[in-house]
Amino acid sequence: MSAELARIAEEVSHRRTFAIISHPDAGKTTLTEKLLLFSGAIQMAGTVKGKKGGKFATSDWMEIEKQRGISVASSVMQFEYRDHTVNLLDTPGHQDFSEDTYRVLTAVDSALMVIDAAKGVEEQTIKLLNVCRLRSTPIVTFMNKYDREVRDSLELLDEVESVLKIRCAPITWPIGMGKAFRGVYSLLNDEVILFEPGAEKLITDVEVIKGIDNPRLDQLFPLEMEQLRMEIELVKGASNEWNLDEFLAGELTPVFFGSAINNFGVREILDALINWAPAPQLRDATVREVAPTEGKFSGFVFKIQANMDPKHRDRIAFLRVCSGKFERGMKMKHLRLNRDIAASSVVTFMSHDREIVEEAFAGDIIGIPNHGNIQIGDSFSEGEDLTFTGIPFFAPELFRGVRIKNPLKLKQLQKGLQQLGEEGAVQVFKPHSGGDLILGAVGVLQFEVVASRLAAEYGVDAMFESASIWSARWFSCDDRKKLDEFVKALQINIATDAGGNLAYLAPNRVNLQLTQERWPDIVFHETREHA
Ligand code: G4P
Repeated sequence: MSAELARIAEEVSHRRTFAIISHPDAGKTTLTEKLLLFSGAIQMAGTVKGKKGGKFATSDWMEIEKQRGISVASSVMQFEYRDHTVNLLDTPGHQDFSEDTYRVLTAVDSALMVIDAAKGVEEQTIKLLNVCRLRSTPIVTFMNKYDREVRDSLELLDEVESVLKIRCAPITWPIGMGKAFRGVYSLLNDEVILFEPGAEKLITDVEVIKGIDNPRLDQLFPLEMEQLRMEIELVKGASNEWNLDEFLAGELTPVFFGSAINNFGVREILDALINWAPAPQLRDATVREVAPTEGKFSGFVFKIQANMDPKHRDRIAFLRVCSGKFERGMKMKHLRLNRDIAASSVVTFMSHDREIVEEAFAGDIIGIPNHGNIQIGDSFSEGEDLTFTGIPFFAPELFRGVRIKNPLKLKQLQKGLQQLGEEGAVQVFKPHSGGDLILGAVGVLQFEVVASRLAAEYGVDAMFESASIWSARWFSCDDRKKLDEFVKALQINIATDAGGNLAYLAPNRVNLQLTQERWPDIVFHETREHA
């Protein structure tokens, strides 16, 4: 093996790329900050202030950046931990929830699921986990907020198993909760890690007691130990044993308990990600599978973000490197347009300002500035024609009809929507029955973004109206005749999207069910691959 290939293999084996999936308020932001803290990427210079009644918005992140002197640019955070390069990709939630949130999950190798243990499995977590399932992404689970009164732990595991359809293997087990939270027992290492409240503590300051039968535990918790020992026996009997292969297959999730705000349980998660989560894997492309350790560079775009820097009108295309080595100044081929681009201004997301990338390996994310030529799902290589697959569009759940105030601007509207549709900012459907164009999204903010970009970039004042559509499904059928029959019979519900694909717009759940039953030969799809 050449020295270059050996270097690439070495770098790849030391990379972990993951995202946090959670419902808003479960503690994603808090945990992100703690992960950065434990990795040493940020210092413990006082806790972050100024979160009055709210969430961290992007601007709050900027505030953190200023305070900590490091970029936590909201989209991608890269840090070093135990000799590994870790890429943590943000999954925008709250009002920023959009298709990007889903698509980020196609660019990671594992995910960390954070659950508010007082609430259990919530709606957004279900949606995000379903997306992870498309690629059998391995999931690590963190049950958060044990410093509060939370739900019964066994019941929580049951809920994860039944609702999310993934088996749980508890790695630690909580001792008490709320005011009586004492710490966790590590089933794997047979040791108790004592809890001490306080955001200033790192776990290294924390006492660890070896062995569940250690008399020191009886001294410390004379009232609780008998019950705990019984509970641990029960848990061992009732739950799944840890198994690395089943985790890597996305069938089993290791579960950790703790309190992010108190820094408790965070190091165990980081260690699990380093020890167990996969390094970058083979990726499917149209012609062949691509190994991360190959010598030649390749990657795909999973997200496009407009106006990250208000001073520039450019957009950044986020590309996940899939193989080889990216080097500053190298030529790479934009395969859809069959055009070389000189990647001299590609950025990474490590430091205070967007920093020019010197090199990047599989698992890393690089940002390519562009003026609208790059679309989601586009692949880049050093020349070989390989288009990565598995970067889907997702069935939208919110719909708006779109009109313009000035009918003379119809052309601009159509052009604008076509481009925004191709870019993945929103989905655009043209009903076969004529009538207004329909926009589809998974997050409300997408409509606002589209409205402001139509105004700023295309000079179009668009008006959105509610549309009585519940969901969309792309459909296909091997039998051309049957397909035509279906399209003709249900013309009123059928539309073509920006990529020219047929979609069925269902007014309600019952309608969709009945239609599926009545047309058994038609296959309905919740996602569609980028063309
Ligand atoms: P998100 O990004 O998933 O939306 O969640 P975020 O980290 O913002 O946390 C949501 C709320 O939960 C915050 O409270 C945060 O402080 C709190 N939280 C996070 N981890 C823990 C934990 O381990 N224990 C407890 N008790 N609370 C936790 P907030 O009231 O919205 O903000 P703040 O004013 O308290 O900072």
